[in-house]
Amino acid sequence: MSDAKIEQYKIRQEPYYEAVANEVELYEAAYNARMPVMLKGPTGCGKSRFVEYMAWKLGRPLITVACNEDMTASDLVGRFLLDKEGTVWQDGPLTTAARIGAICYLDEVVEARQDTTVVIHPLTDHRRTLPLDKKGEVIEAHEDFQLVISYNPGYQSLMKDLKQSTKQRFGAMDFDYPEAATEANIVARETGVDKAVAEKLVQIAHRARNLKGHGLDEGISTRLLVYAGQLINKGVDPLAACSMTLVRPLTDDPDMRDTLDAAVGTYFG
Ligand SMILES: Nc1ncnc2c1ncn2[C@@H]1O[C@H](COP(=O)(O)OP(=O)(O)O)[C@@H](O)[C@H]1O
Ligand SMILES: [Mg+2]
Repeated sequence: MSDAKIEQYKIRQEPYYEAVANEVELYEAAYNARMPVMLKGPTGCGKSRFVEYMAWKLGRPLITVACNEDMTASDLVGRFLLDKEGTVWQDGPLTTAARIGAICYLDEVVEARQDTTVVIHPLTDHRRTLPLDKKGEVIEAHEDFQLVISYNPGYQSLMKDLKQSTKQRFGAMDFDYPEAATEANIVARETGVDKAVAEKLVQIAHRARNLKGHGLDEGISTRLLVYAGQLINKGVDPLAACSMTLVRPLTDDPDMRDTLDAAVGTYFG
């Protein structure tokens, strides 16, 4: 594999990541053991940013795959394609990562069907191999390769959960929205709004998070707070900014929208 190909997956600039506990040290230890890692937590709480930061810190290329239910094993592993000369094999992202020693991040892995998920099993065995069945080849993962998956435990029905035989191949780390002061720091730093505004946004989020399971499936994520801050920083009226980024994305229920809009009004009214 050419150096240019590897370079394109390297993260050039240090991603901004605010550590919330000992996750950086834990992940480094897991990487040093080449242990597969599972990041669990609600959407928009910092999982992807954390992986980007760790890939940068460890100096490893990062290959991210957003999983979905239409994804097949071939989408991960590779397939034969037709070109002028005939058929050529093209590696999928998992195969590329295994060959170049990248960190392969399978985002929202439960979205993939179970027959797709099982292709990662041999990579998590001590032999760390990947069979390319259609090509009749078995590759050995590069010594720097590591597999990381994320998933949001809240969404899954029992039907769609990961199998124990998959789960128990990973060390797992819990992620959640950062505590208030840290989250306000993140929002201020990411968007340029001042501390006071960031703190208000976080307080609104806390109100909404208390409604999880009481009419809301998910609370307001850190990602949405960053969206709100971005609009406010561009001069959008905070009420309109919050309505667009904190309330509308979350729910279509008119009563719930009123409740959330009212909460926004108590901070920005
Ligand atoms: N600990 C953190 N440090 C820095 N930014 C964070 C942190 N947690 C969340 N963010 C912000 O929230 C956004 C969404 O986080 P992301 O990693 O994409 O969420 P997830 O992958 O968990 O869905 C990021 O783009 C970043 O702006
Ligand atoms: Mg993500």
